[in-house]
Amino acid sequence: MRVLLVGSGGREHALAWKLAQAPSLTDLHAAPGSPGIARLGECHPIRAEDAEGLLALAHELDIDLVVVGPEAPLVAGVADVLRHAGTAVFGPSAAAAAIEGSKSFAKEVMTAAGVPSAVQLPIARPPCVVKADGIAAGKGVHVCRTQSELDAALVAMNALGGRVVVEELLEGPEVSLLAICDGREALPLVSAQDFKRAFDGDEGPNTGGMGAYAPVPGLGEPEIEELLATLHRPVLAELARRGAPFIGLLYAGLMLTADGPRVLEFNCRFGDPETQSVAPLIEGDLLQALAAASVGELGGVALGTTPGAAVTVILAAAGYPAEGDRGSPIAGVGDAESAGALVFHAGTALHGDRLVTNGGRILGVTGLGETISAARAVAYTAADCIEFDGARRREDIALAAAEGRTFALHDE
Ligand code: AMP
Ligand code: GLY
Repeated sequence: MRVLLVGSGGREHALAWKLAQAPSLTDLHAAPGSPGIARLGECHPIRAEDAEGLLALAHELDIDLVVVGPEAPLVAGVADVLRHAGTAVFGPSAAAAAIEGSKSFAKEVMTAAGVPSAVQLPIARPPCVVKADGIAAGKGVHVCRTQSELDAALVAMNALGGRVVVEELLEGPEVSLLAICDGREALPLVSAQDFKRAFDGDEGPNTGGMGAYAPVPGLGEPEIEELLATLHRPVLAELARRGAPFIGLLYAGLMLTADGPRVLEFNCRFGDPETQSVAPLIEGDLLQALAAASVGELGGVALGTTPGAAVTVILAAAGYPAEGDRGSPIAGVGDAESAGALVFHAGTALHGDRLVTNGGRILGVTGLGETISAARAVAYTAADCIEFDGARRREDIALAAAEGRTFALHDE
C-alpha cells in the first residue's frame, strides 16, 4: 500500500514510525514531513493545508491511503477534497471535524448523544471556564477561580474575537482516550495521560503538551470499553445521524471527576504528544486498521497492546509556549537513540546536514519499559544526551504513576 502522511510534528513522526513497520506498506510519503520522517519515507514540500497540492501529489504518487495528522487541515476540509476526488483518506470531513473545530457544535452533539460533559453556564461568574469557540492551539481556554482571573480571561477572549463558551469548572485527573473510527465502529487504543502545563507540578500556562505516558494505571480494557460505550460510540451515532459520519481518530479528552468521567473536549485527530507514547505500544498492523476505517470496514479488525509502558518527555524551546526557536543546532539525538529511546522530531529542520530547532516543541523522547518507572528512566536518561540552546523539559512526566498512583472511573 502506498501511503501519504500529512503533517510534520512529533505525532506524525510517531505515526510514520509505526506505519513503516506495517507488512502491507510499500511506500511511505509525507507532506511536508520532517527530518525525522525523512529517515522513514520520502518528504514533499507541500503544506498540510494545501488541499489541491495534496490531491495533485496523491494522484502523481498513485497513493492508496492519505492519513491526515493535524486538526487545522481537517477542520478546513482537506479530507473532503481528497475523498471527493476518489482518494481514500483516514481523517474526518469538515462537517465531522467540527467536533473539535467548534466548541458549541461539540456541546450540541454531546448533549444530543447524552455524553457527560461540563455544563454550559448562561453567565460568566467564578468558578468557571471560559473558552474560545474555534480552534486556538491550546490558547483558547481559561480556568477562572477568581473574579480577577475571569476579568483577565474576558479581556484575552475579546482580543481573540469570535464566540465564547462558558462552562462549569470541573476537577480531577485528565485522561486521553483515542479510538480509530470508521463512521460507526470504534477501535480503542491504549489509555494515555498528557501533561499540558508548561512547568513541573502542573504550573504555568497551557501548552500543546510537555509529555505523555501510557497506559494509565487502573484504566485497562474493561474501563476503556466502558468509556467507549458512554463517550465515543454515542458521538459516532449522533454524527452519523446528522449525516456527518466520523471517519478518523476520535480523541476524547476527559476528566475523572468525583461524579464520574466527563468529556472536556473531543479532538478529531491523534493526540500529540500522546501518540508518541501510544503508537509504540500498538501491537499489530496500524496501517491495515486505518485503511479499513477509511472505507467503513473496521468490523473484525483488532489491534493489541504491547505489555509494558511508554513515557514521552518533550524537549521544548526556552520560550515555549509563548515563542519557539529557530536555527539552534541540536546535538545528541544519535546518543539518545543509542541509549534505547525513540526520538521523534516535533519542530526540527535541516540546515545543510545539520539538525536545528524549528518550532516550540522540538523533540519527543520516548522510553519503553516493563513498567512506567522503567520506561521513564529510559526516556530521561536518553533526553539527558540531547542538547540545544535553551532546551527545556518537565522533570515530572509520569512521576506520580511511576510512584504507584492509580486512577479509577468512579469513586469507590
Ligand atoms: P480544552 O481545549 O477544552 O481541552 O481545554 C484545555 C484544558 O483546559 C483541559 O485540558 C483542562 O485542563 C482545562 N479545562 C477545559 N475545560 C475545563 C473544565 N470544564 N473544567 C476544568 N478544566 C477544564
Ligand atoms: N495533547 C493534547 C492534544 O493533542 O490536543
